[in-house]
Amino acid sequence: MEKKITVLPGDGIGPEVVTAAVEVLQAVAKKYEHSFHFAYATIGGAAIDQHNDPLPTETIELCEESDAILLGAVGGPKWDNNPSDLRPEKGLLRIRKHFDLFSNLRPVQAIPSMLKSSPLKEEIVQDVDLLIVRELTGGLYFGDRNRTDDEAFDSLTYTRPEIERIVDNAFTLARLRRKKLTSVDKANVLDTSRLWREIVEEKKAQYPDVSVEHSLVDSTAMKLITAPADYDVIVTENMFGDILSDEASVITGSLGVLPSASMRSDNFGLYEPVHGSAPEIAGKGIANPAATILSAAMLLQYSFGMSEEAKAIEKAVSNVFEKGYFTGDMAHKGVQALSTNEWTERVLAEI
Ligand code: NAI
Ligand code: MG
Repeated sequence: MEKKITVLPGDGIGPEVVTAAVEVLQAVAKKYEHSFHFAYATIGGAAIDQHNDPLPTETIELCEESDAILLGAVGGPKWDNNPSDLRPEKGLLRIRKHFDLFSNLRPVQAIPSMLKSSPLKEEIVQDVDLLIVRELTGGLYFGDRNRTDDEAFDSLTYTRPEIERIVDNAFTLARLRRKKLTSVDKANVLDTSRLWREIVEEKKAQYPDVSVEHSLVDSTAMKLITAPADYDVIVTENMFGDILSDEASVITGSLGVLPSASMRSDNFGLYEPVHGSAPEIAGKGIANPAATILSAAMLLQYSFGMSEEAKAIEKAVSNVFEKGYFTGDMAHKGVQALSTNEWTERVLAEI
């Protein structure tokens, strides 16, 4: 198959981890006789520096002409005091909205070789295989807002269609897995959450094979690290999903292994690691590229329908961990930490 991928390296460790993922995609293309064309553009701080815009028009145009987007991460101290429209994360929020990427999929899987990297007890972590489905284009991050010197507000709004489509998406994904859906809200306090809960209840009838539970976000935060193996699919609104998915990284021991996909209602999507630009380790060649490499696997699976190729990447990554090779963020006592390049070479060799 012939496919076009727009690559947005971004800032900090973004370019380092994206380079690794592109190498892996090239290896897969060679092995399975596909041709992937990579086109590069700027986003975030890099785009502000070059174009005075965190999401330049030419970046949008390039993405529009492509079949999928692979992104590193954006942000860093250099731009922290910029006005709100010239902040790196504005580029991310705008690209999600522009392409209507309403469904953010964040799988968390603990493979045996990762267990030692987790600060949690092995028996808590060992059977974890969950998927967080986070609403990505509504809620607090896109609501009306204002600030003066002495007062500020952000508003949280959800419409029925916005909730319906993410809930349908989560039910459909639960069907393909262990058929258990946990809907997370704050329905004891928030009206948006009460509407959310009502819609989940209405939808239940259409998916009788899926079991549904409602869970308040505060107690979910606790249960997610005391009994993470109880979860299959978790569906929640934008900010709750943002927070819970970083928390879930504790399960695997590092943010550096968590991939994500942000999907539109067709197969178009943007794929990026859950982590940020980690400025304090940028340029040192020590970032863990696993999250971005696994995001590339999700790209093949969800946007290109290449299941076998996606599995080959996942298998290669887990083999490298099984053989005891880790980057510094995961290397436990007595294990030598590999650089980004050395670790990527191992993955390429597996493929
Ligand atoms: P972060 O995810 O960049 O880093 C959190 C911690 O995890 C740091 O100790 C970092 O060194 C480590 N870490 C993250 N990814 C790693 C990797 N691949 N390998 C090894 N260690 C890794 O989050 P932080 O520090 O809160 O934010 C740093 C910058 O990133 C900020 O400017 C923030 O706005 C931005 N950010 C961007 C995101 C995105 O582009 N999607 C998401 C989150 C933060
Ligand atoms: Mg986040």
